[in-house]
Amino acid sequence: MPGTRFTNIRRFDSIDSTNRYLLDEARAGAPEGVVAVADHQSAGRGRLGRTWEAPPGSNLLVSVLLRPDLPGDQRHLASAVVALAAVDAVNAVVGTRLGIKWPNDLLGPNGRKVAGVLAEADLAVPPSSTGTGGSPIVVGIGINVNWPVKGADLPEDLVGVATSLHELTGHPIDRSVLLDSILEALEPRVCDLATAAGRIRQAGDLRAACTTLGTRVRVELADERFEGTATDVTSEGHLIVDTGAARRTVIAGDVVHVRPGG
Ligand code: BTN
Repeated sequence: MPGTRFTNIRRFDSIDSTNRYLLDEARAGAPEGVVAVADHQSAGRGRLGRTWEAPPGSNLLVSVLLRPDLPGDQRHLASAVVALAAVDAVNAVVGTRLGIKWPNDLLGPNGRKVAGVLAEADLAVPPSSTGTGGSPIVVGIGINVNWPVKGADLPEDLVGVATSLHELTGHPIDRSVLLDSILEALEPRVCDLATAAGRIRQAGDLRAACTTLGTRVRVELADERFEGTATDVTSEGHLIVDTGAARRTVIAGDVVHVRPGG
């Protein structure tokens, strides 16, 4: 995208995973700003070791290589800025305002998932001499653009859970227009990661877009689970959960929106 750091865009008809590809490129010293976009992934990766699947040519499957100089406990902001740029772009291109389920699932007005973000880092990789800033983080986003639509054969675990921009608007969406818009929106947000004031601004935008606030949640950490009400997103981008007994700060982990009575 001209005028941004995202000018090196590598397009694939089919690849195993755009995240895997960019992590390997990062290991080989690729600079910040390389983008990989695929029509189809044969081994798309989701969060928590899940897979991410979509029929060829239907959805936006894209990863960006970032090298932000972030404090260790704020590395989550690298994926937040991609989620926020996608919210901006969907609003600009499609006119639908998505919400962010903390940490960075994008939900439609019907509460169904439209997109997911997966950040992957290899902390053993040293900062690149050709890139700027610190160790690489690959942030991938899969946006359900034109799939699923009503009547599609959905895997059982996605029925009633996933939706698409096509389904929300009633018409097909041009994926390349959406990608350009995301990269344009991402540029100033990535710039913000370099300063304390910028990071506070991005965390504020995450708070404003976060539909988890005010809801009952179950937090699933590696060694513990607890429930409470999500009350805030801090200026570092962390989620505050009030359990009744304590205010817990969640830096990373899976958050399940608990339905009332559920
Ligand atoms: C999630 O589980 O919600 C995150 C899904 C992330 C999927 C995207 S598609 C492009 C990029 N490449 C991958 O292998 N995964 C991410």
